Amino acid sequence: MKNTFWLLIVLLGSLTACKNDVKTDVSEETSKDEVVYDMYKPSEMAILMNQMYAHNLKIKQDILNGDIPAEFPIDFMEIHSAELTKANQRNETFEKFSKIFITAEKNIFNQDSKTPLEARFNTAVNACISCHETSCTGPIPRIKKLLIKS
Ligand code: HEC
Repeated sequence: MKNTFWLLIVLLGSLTACKNDVKTDVSEETSKDEVVYDMYKPSEMAILMNQMYAHNLKIKQDILNGDIPAEFPIDFMEIHSAELTKANQRNETFEKFSKIFITAEKNIFNQDSKTPLEARFNTAVNACISCHETSCTGPIPRIKKLLIKS
């Protein structure tokens, strides 16, 4: 019963990743074997986004452990070229927010910065959220979990 419930949530969440009225949170609670990936073909952008989520989660953990994140993940630059689902468009707004995000993410790795690391990390996460407010509000509650609380 519980599994069926999650399966449904995951399928709904996947098919309608950016329909803003869907309040699904496909998150850590869902274990891998309950997810049916082959019924849904994620776009290049969706794959990249999930990688960026995972990578920033790792960066957050490093920061909380007192480690300094070493290197800007160059794969993030694919935000400028990855293919989107048909529902979303690479328009001027998207390009503008991509640039803001990449600049903020790079600044996490700027060791000459006088701004505290936590603040620079949160600025990058807030740049994720700002773009999502314009184009894809569904994942926002999940992205907010990346923020480092002071
Ligand atoms: C420039 C705009 C923009 C930025 C910046 C951005 N996103 Fe996205 N995100 C999108 C769009 C648009 C989609 C929908 C993808 C599609 O339509 O192919 C998306 C999709 C997602 C998804 C859902 C993927 C799926 O499985 O369907 C997650 C999770 C996500 N983004 C997390 C993040 C995180 C974390 C960051 C920052 C590290 C981020 N996003 C930065 C625009 C953005």
